[in-house]
Amino acid sequence: MGVVLGIESSCDETAAALVDGHRTILAQHIASQDDAHRPYGGVVPEIAARAHVERVMPLVAATLVDAGMTLADVAAVAVTAGPGLIGGVMVGLVSAKALALAADKPLMAINHLEGHALSARLADPALEFPYLLLLVSGGHCQILVVSGVGRYRRLATTIDDALGEAFDKTAKILGLGFPGGPAVEAAAARGDPRAVPLPRPLLGSAEPHFSFAGLKSAVLRAKQAGSHADEDIAAAFQAAAIDCVIDRTRRALVAAGAVGALVVAGGVAANRAMRTALQALAAERGLRFSAPPAALCTDNAAMIAWAGVERLGTGQNDPLDFAPRPRWPLDPSAEVVRGAGIKA
Ligand code: KG4
Ligand code: ZN
Repeated sequence: MGVVLGIESSCDETAAALVDGHRTILAQHIASQDDAHRPYGGVVPEIAARAHVERVMPLVAATLVDAGMTLADVAAVAVTAGPGLIGGVMVGLVSAKALALAADKPLMAINHLEGHALSARLADPALEFPYLLLLVSGGHCQILVVSGVGRYRRLATTIDDALGEAFDKTAKILGLGFPGGPAVEAAAARGDPRAVPLPRPLLGSAEPHFSFAGLKSAVLRAKQAGSHADEDIAAAFQAAAIDCVIDRTRRALVAAGAVGALVVAGGVAANRAMRTALQALAAERGLRFSAPPAALCTDNAAMIAWAGVERLGTGQNDPLDFAPRPRWPLDPSAEVVRGAGIKA
């Protein structure tokens, strides 16, 4: 099967990659914009869009050069067409359309969440459908049954913050810097999780949904109290978050029906303590456990190219007038959960 060029620009990473049907990442480049957004403590959409404009075509060119290929050698151009920050999505999508048109190649408009959802199959050739997917990133926090390419049933979502958002806000409260997830993980490793009592929102509730707003507020109160070490607060936050994730995933496994594997993907899946806890849950339930390497968990273009490879196998592609979709749920039939109106 042919080689797919993937392009990602939906948040603050500009990335390009070439992936083939044998799961080989022939070349890839990622330009992070952390330095540009750090002064603001979060991603500024207008700054992100402008940075994508400057970077996307040079990254595509460098990726092709690294692989010793030209556009004529690719089978298709796959690009994130949503959900995400509209400016960045438009930059990537317009660039991909121009490349596809110029080289007369099919365009694949990929849902960013589908990229995360299928990324585990890029890293793990033995991972078969159906699997239970915990998708945890900066913008999303969902549990889905993945039964095939394009076949997603959402069992749970967050009623307020996404898990990555909670990590980022905790980092901000503790003054640990940006991006927050890795900083909280590093601080947590030095702290005592029992030193600070924190709530576990929705623990034990019947529906497997998530809530992290109350936990975030409790972190703020613990910090304001002034009597706890930052490392202890970070450790207590991470332990509470993991307890919630395990409880909610356990609940979702009951609702999921037969699945062969438990998969975690998205930026927060890079968290080692979370991976270890999920691996233990999978072992307890007799399930295969699969998590992509950290570099494939955070935003990248290899997962977009791979989703394109998977879609190529099903013979699907998209028209050149495909419109960007800032909101694009993986499971459009999923009920809207109270408080979750702004999450895709
Ligand atoms: O998938 P991703 O790169 O972008 C989105 O699609 O949102 O996820 C980014 C999120 C951020 O919230 C970041 O803080 C979090 O993933 N993250 C982590 C870790 N590495 C990244 N959270 C916890 N522990 C980590 N090691
Ligand atoms: Zn992402």
